[in-house]
Amino acid sequence: MKTLMNSRFYGTRKVPGDKSITHRSLMFASLAKGISHVKDPLLSADTYATKACMESLGVEIVAEPEGWKVDSPGRKHLQSPNAPLYTGNSGTTARLLTGMIAGIGLEAEIIGDASISKRPMDRIKAPLEQMGARIALKNDKYPPIKISKAELSPISYTMPVASAQVKSALLLAGLFVEGKSVITEPSPSRNHSELMLAEFGADISVDDHVITLDGGKELSPADVVVPGDISSAAFLLVLATLKPGSDITIENVSLNETRSGIIDVLEMMEADITVEPTSTTGEPIGNIRAVYTPKLKGFEISGALIPRLIDEIPILTLLAAHSDGPCTVRDAVELRYKETDRIRAVIDELSKFGFEFTEYNDGFTVSLEKIHLAEGVSMRGYGDHRIIMMLIVLGIVMDQPLDIDDMAAIDISYPDFMADLEALRKDA
Ligand code: S3P
Repeated sequence: MKTLMNSRFYGTRKVPGDKSITHRSLMFASLAKGISHVKDPLLSADTYATKACMESLGVEIVAEPEGWKVDSPGRKHLQSPNAPLYTGNSGTTARLLTGMIAGIGLEAEIIGDASISKRPMDRIKAPLEQMGARIALKNDKYPPIKISKAELSPISYTMPVASAQVKSALLLAGLFVEGKSVITEPSPSRNHSELMLAEFGADISVDDHVITLDGGKELSPADVVVPGDISSAAFLLVLATLKPGSDITIENVSLNETRSGIIDVLEMMEADITVEPTSTTGEPIGNIRAVYTPKLKGFEISGALIPRLIDEIPILTLLAAHSDGPCTVRDAVELRYKETDRIRAVIDELSKFGFEFTEYNDGFTVSLEKIHLAEGVSMRGYGDHRIIMMLIVLGIVMDQPLDIDDMAAIDISYPDFMADLEALRKDA
């Protein structure tokens, strides 16, 4: 990290493939008899966990120069695994896999690391049980998730929170069930499952907040091209905005409306940011350029914007360092149920630098007089990739290498993060 100090960051970069799309491409391809290709997938701890789970069900996944070839015997020939399915740190794997296993009528036990073992799974258990699934959880809430064979029926479900993981688990469960499943979201969460399932041949339609899946149709194989992950790009965009002399362009990144809330916030703050769409079919893709902006406006974010940037809130909080007024996040109680309680983690760590917070159950207001760090203070990353990368960006902005307890979790979503920073680094 020391080599990154006293630098500016300049140039054009691609970020790794989108994590949500990579998980889904492996799962949907595994349900479609035949060969699918996944081009430019994210190769990281989380997506390798999904790959290993699919292999345990009997799917063959082979590395190719451009990504993966997924060869599936078809959903009817997938087998119940003879050992627990290990999802590592990945909540998306655990939740979507539960819906998938229930939907194809297999039995399995799903486990994960220490963080997964504390993440709530009752949010999928309740609606899946309404469909007829048989699911047991520890204390009726946490993994291990034990799924027994059962026959499902379609569901009509209004989701209490906007969650793409819950929505996708239900869609996976309903795929091969004759009849219409109708899922209503309070506000739109990421819609990759809807877009991709249509590509794999499912009968799915979306009308405003209502998703209708006419189940019972087999999926057909498809080739997926994975765009760059805007949640990874976010770290570089915020770095460019805060670090004098910086100018970074991220190419080939997903601009999907349900994920692009960070662009709205940067524009709201009057940051120097330019978006150039390059393709609008399927997942919209484009280039985003962010240039150093010494003075920013404060932001207030809440409501329907929150699901569109939920994973970016830790890194967006750093923008308070340059803003002319307080920054407020509300309606984001979901942050408390991520890899760690991200409201707590952001407040506890950034308070060490002079950021001042008012904490709410569903967010915070933050302001900053002057950024500083007392000598000898060490940082906690909570084993959470997005908290660790936020702290690394902060250290670079301050020109002060930070003593972070454990950086290994970067591998969860952005294994080349340090190398990409190094590649963009120029002498100040
Ligand atoms: C994801 C959905 C979001 C997000 C997570 C990935 C997905 O979680 O925070 O990182 O791929 O579906 P929720 O659905 O719990 O909001």
